[in-house]
Amino acid sequence: MTTGARQRAWAALADHWQDLQATRIDEMFTADPRRFQGWSVALDDMLLDISKTKLDGRALDLLADLARAAGVPQRLEAMFAGETVNATENRAALHPVLRAPDQAPRHVDGRDVKAAVAAEDARVRAFAEGVRDGTIAGRDGEPITDVINIGIGGSHLGPALAVRSLRPYRDGPRVHFVANADGADVSDTLRGRDPRRTLIIVSSKSFTTTETLANARTAWAWSARALGEEGVAGHFAAVTAATDKAAAFGIPAERVFRMWDWVGGRYSVWGAVGLPAMIALGTDAFDAFRAGAAAMDAHVREAPLTRNMPVLLALVGVWHANVCGYPTRAVLPYDHRLNRLPGYLQQLDMESNGKAVSADGAALTGHSGPIVWGEVGTNAQHAFFQLLHQGTRIVPCEFLVAADGHEPDARDHHDLLVANCFAQARALMRGRCRAETETLLRQQGMDAHTAARLAPHRSFAGDRPSTMLLYRRLDPFTLGRIIALYEHRVVIEGTIWGVNPFDQWGVELGKELATSLHGRVAAREGAPDADPSTDGLLGWRARLADG
Ligand code: F6P
Repeated sequence: MTTGARQRAWAALADHWQDLQATRIDEMFTADPRRFQGWSVALDDMLLDISKTKLDGRALDLLADLARAAGVPQRLEAMFAGETVNATENRAALHPVLRAPDQAPRHVDGRDVKAAVAAEDARVRAFAEGVRDGTIAGRDGEPITDVINIGIGGSHLGPALAVRSLRPYRDGPRVHFVANADGADVSDTLRGRDPRRTLIIVSSKSFTTTETLANARTAWAWSARALGEEGVAGHFAAVTAATDKAAAFGIPAERVFRMWDWVGGRYSVWGAVGLPAMIALGTDAFDAFRAGAAAMDAHVREAPLTRNMPVLLALVGVWHANVCGYPTRAVLPYDHRLNRLPGYLQQLDMESNGKAVSADGAALTGHSGPIVWGEVGTNAQHAFFQLLHQGTRIVPCEFLVAADGHEPDARDHHDLLVANCFAQARALMRGRCRAETETLLRQQGMDAHTAARLAPHRSFAGDRPSTMLLYRRLDPFTLGRIIALYEHRVVIEGTIWGVNPFDQWGVELGKELATSLHGRVAAREGAPDADPSTDGLLGWRARLADG
């Protein structure tokens, strides 16, 4: 469809919002008692409820028109078909092939990549199983008890999320993650570990990321002090698209596992980047994780737009960000082991859609991706929920919760958790007006004057939107579905905003300037050719560090 069709859809949405704005979400339930049934969609044992948003039928129709006008279904199919959807890097974005259950050919640039993917997967699995069963051991024959993944961004967040989220399924070695350039990260992680029983995986698609290489060198030296230079290589492995660079670093070829050019770092947990999770959880659990993602792939391709979970989540996102004008969204997992999900989604979402130009380089006329933030419930309730309930800014909330936990002895805890989750969503929507608050305070025995004085502070405007993702239990299959749900949501939103969700040029300038300043920082020099603030800070840092 044409730019004109898109513009018409945006304009119609803006008009419709003017009409709808004053209607409260809870009034929409009064008008339609079956709103929950109509505005929630199930995929097996997972339910996405969007009924507590201010979407009505006309808004959804217009948003679906917008998605069609932006070519969402075609764009998804182009992605699944291995077309060059990442035009600024001249690449496909074929992460779904890493979890595709079938052996059907998948082409990139006219080449079938499926056989190569299967062959590499077999190498990764054999290595993971070998570490788990002890046939791949330390130099002295000691079993590997600890694995340290060194990597950052997409080479860190996905496996860290998987290992953390699936803690009840871990039956392999302990897995640790080092990402930060700050030496505190690697030092704290290495301290107390036994180099003879530790495997270090250096994970970097480019194998040029300065933080990762600095941490890898430090870990190498730590290993060499205990094992001798000749013993280190047997305690290292690498995951990279730059296999030559990993070899030059000293990692033996049989321990270098391949990332693919046509899979972006933040979409890469499904392949060799998932090695630490595969070692921790085993290949069966990792297969279930991938199968969950494959189920979401099938769903996003087959379900009609208005019954399609990733599409609906994307349309809600666009509605809130562009039509309602809410600049952020909060991700609130009421699932303690998903405490890394907000951080994971910050990269997936903001590195993908934090763009100011369209895929063809034109300046965007509207906003692209919102600011994503969040924390687990119930902790978040005692931190920033005050602002969510009474602040002047409206923050759409995305709740996630399992129907059941993994702790048979803590059933009461889970009931309490679910009650809190549902109650917060209800409180955000319902609110409590001043008159109701005043009456309540009077019923509690407060005098009329005090009740009137306190009522404004103790009232809630309500009418604040939220979505709820409810699933049976956070098992590997479900985690795979959740991650793939968000991956597709991000790609669909990016398509509607017209940006390329697969590149990340916005991180380059900071990297370049850090590289050029590094020498000055190390030499305790100023940078008179830079701006006066940077120059002044360099001077102060030199004085403080050496004082
Ligand atoms: O932050 C920029 C980025 O390129 C991410 O996209 C990527 O996940 C991360 O750095 C790490 O890159 P690499 O895997 O090449 O070390």
